[in-house]
Amino acid sequence: MNIELKTKRLILRMPAKSDWKDIVDGAGEFDIAKMTATIPHPYKKKDALWFINMVLKDWGKTRYTFFIELKDEKRVIGVMDLFRIDKINGTAETGSWINKKYWRMGYITEAKIALNDFAFNKLKLRRLDSSVFVSNKASNATQRKVGYKFEGTKRKALKNKATEKIHDVNIYGLLKDDWEKVRPRLIRFFK
Ligand SMILES: CC(C)(COP(=O)(O)OP(=O)(O)OC[C@H]1O[C@@H](n2cnc3c(N)ncnc32)[C@H](O)[C@@H]1OP(=O)(O)O)[C@@H](O)C(=O)NCCC(=O)NCCS
Repeated sequence: MNIELKTKRLILRMPAKSDWKDIVDGAGEFDIAKMTATIPHPYKKKDALWFINMVLKDWGKTRYTFFIELKDEKRVIGVMDLFRIDKINGTAETGSWINKKYWRMGYITEAKIALNDFAFNKLKLRRLDSSVFVSNKASNATQRKVGYKFEGTKRKALKNKATEKIHDVNIYGLLKDDWEKVRPRLIRFFK
């Protein structure tokens, strides 16, 4: 099912094979790989094509891994992942990155507004989970900004693929009620 989520500056959409260059440009940056669990470094064309194929295979079943297209530049500047979707339990996990050239412009906040609306209103999920390295200042701040509640720290829980470093991981949860409380405050900036 071809689902597109549109915001003021972005289109969250299904991947296309031709996106591989933008994915290599973004995920190939060490500062992205070192803060996520599963992105290898260096990151090559074959890694991007594997990722795109995997997303297309699982799309609409266990995941919606939206590619974030910047309307003005018609290029993919990041990924907003909704994965391990459990329709019976009403839960899913999220993860994301934005190309380093586009950091601190509010893009992930804008993408998360669309994703949260989709997850709670269209998929009717009850809870979203997010796991963040304790050392990842930007991502910890982002989760809190969009209403996620900090629920604890799992010690030595994830190994980073690029550095092989073991990380303590903060666990965040977002319930539909949490989202409805912060949404009106956030959407004012993205209309
Ligand atoms: C985390 C990440 C996705 C944030 O994307 P972004 O589009 O730059 O985020 P936004 O501009 O929407 O910022 C949202 C909030 O996060 C916080 N923030 C973002 N970058 C920050 C930084 N470098 N340091 C501290 N706080 C930061 C701010 O509170 C910001 O809100 P504000 O600008 O109103 O103060 C981006 O930094 C990234 O791709 N990092 C590498 C990959 C990664 O860590 N992914 C998440 C794995 S769990």
